[in-house]
Amino acid sequence: MEYVELALAKGRLVDSTLELFAEIGLVFPGYSKRSRKLVFTNDEWRVRLVLVKSADVPTYVERGAVDMGIVGKDMLLESGALVYELVDLGFGSCKMVVASKNEAYRRKVKPVVATKYPAIAQTYFREQGRPIETITLHGSVELAPLIGLSDCIVDIVETGTTLRENGLHVTEEIADLSARLVVNRASFKTKFERLSCFIDQVQAAVDSREARL
Ligand code: PRP
Repeated sequence: MEYVELALAKGRLVDSTLELFAEIGLVFPGYSKRSRKLVFTNDEWRVRLVLVKSADVPTYVERGAVDMGIVGKDMLLESGALVYELVDLGFGSCKMVVASKNEAYRRKVKPVVATKYPAIAQTYFREQGRPIETITLHGSVELAPLIGLSDCIVDIVETGTTLRENGLHVTEEIADLSARLVVNRASFKTKFERLSCFIDQVQAAVDSREARL
């Protein structure tokens, strides 16, 4: 039987994903938090797991380098990758928001928006006929309005602590986010039975978690 390849976003989603997999009996004993290993195999299930940077997961899946991926909805929206999004895994919940010190940015003709998500920001404002200029940053986005680099930010808020501790607050909500299981469109046809069986098991585990809540 052929191996199913799955790309998992490194970082926050790894532990929750491996816990969910353990609930359906799929384990990767070779994995440890400290290891720098990037490929893990379960020969019984014939599943190969690769750890990649979250922003790269949509690319791996869209281009068929792997059959499936697990990644945050933020990365899917930002990449616009053409993949099947089949399961909302229910963890990694957070929101994409506009945040600022105050409402002054709303009165600007073309406010400057600092973000790690320029495509999401442009789409959100464009759909409302509000022109913006985006500045793409790669982290600590909350700093930008504090030092006058931008008028507001588009970023993820989870607990709200980072915004609060930096004197910012949510002014607009853009989207609810969480971890998603996505599938390459060709793989879904050519490996339909393998993949749908796996997806059904994952969906059942998610459903039974929700039923327990
Ligand atoms: C993310 C996000 C916010 C923070 C939100 O950043 O960009 O900065 O988490 O979380 P909170 O609402 O629970 O405070 P991340 O930790 O990934 O680091 P980064 O700023 O370096 O991107």
